Amino acid sequence: MRKKFVAGNWKMNKNFQQAEELLDELVDVVSAKAAPDVDVVVCPPFVFIEMALDICRDEQSRNVFSIGAQDVSAYTSGAYTGEVSAEMIASMEAEYCIVGHSERRKYHGETDTTVAQKVELLLQNSLTPIVCVGETLEERENGVLFDVIKTQLTDGLFHLQPMDFSHIVIAYEPVWAIGTGKTATDKQAEEMHKYIRSLIEEKYGKEIARKTPILYGGSCTPQTAPSLFAQPDIDGGLIGGASLKADDFVSIINSFGK
Ligand code: PGA
Repeated sequence: MRKKFVAGNWKMNKNFQQAEELLDELVDVVSAKAAPDVDVVVCPPFVFIEMALDICRDEQSRNVFSIGAQDVSAYTSGAYTGEVSAEMIASMEAEYCIVGHSERRKYHGETDTTVAQKVELLLQNSLTPIVCVGETLEERENGVLFDVIKTQLTDGLFHLQPMDFSHIVIAYEPVWAIGTGKTATDKQAEEMHKYIRSLIEEKYGKEIARKTPILYGGSCTPQTAPSLFAQPDIDGGLIGGASLKADDFVSIINSFGK
């Protein structure tokens, strides 16, 4: 059995007080209501990571959820104003980091090459990369969606040794579904997840392919999560908008087996 997994990507939302309120609420709601067999990760903006870890530590005996970052520098350290390194994230005891999100690709020039560099640094620092891949609407309409995903995986990840690859979480996030309210259908999502798993199997073999968590992201809601998560190759979700409301987030966490 693969792990079930739900990660919340807060993006650039909330001020300090609002973040604190949401984290307090999440700790309460997730510890009281969430299915215990789902790994839950919350990825707030960098500036709230310390607070998030403190709030989780208070509850650590209950292991409510883990904390991740939304991005990391492609450089190790030094004169890179504004950047945050993998070592910094690891030294705070966060455990995960999103890489290659389409918003980073679109607005900040992230490429498969920088994804590869970032993944390398995260693994060196024992952080788990959540690596996003996804096609645009135009690429889907032009029928090149599978080629796009294959290139993103090959250039961003398939340089890894099998041992390292086994620490990766993949998120399939069709760009046209992110923040648009237009969730991929179960069929569209499962088709791509199955394809991604087949590429992993080709490269790393059956066992690693079977174990790699592949999350769906893109307008996932409490309404759409149950049937998406029921697909054989969908192991959970990377949740944007709906992770900003504790009740919606916990409903999504509880969507497995519904
Ligand atoms: P969304 O974002 O759920 O708001 O569509 C998902 C993501 O970008 O990770």
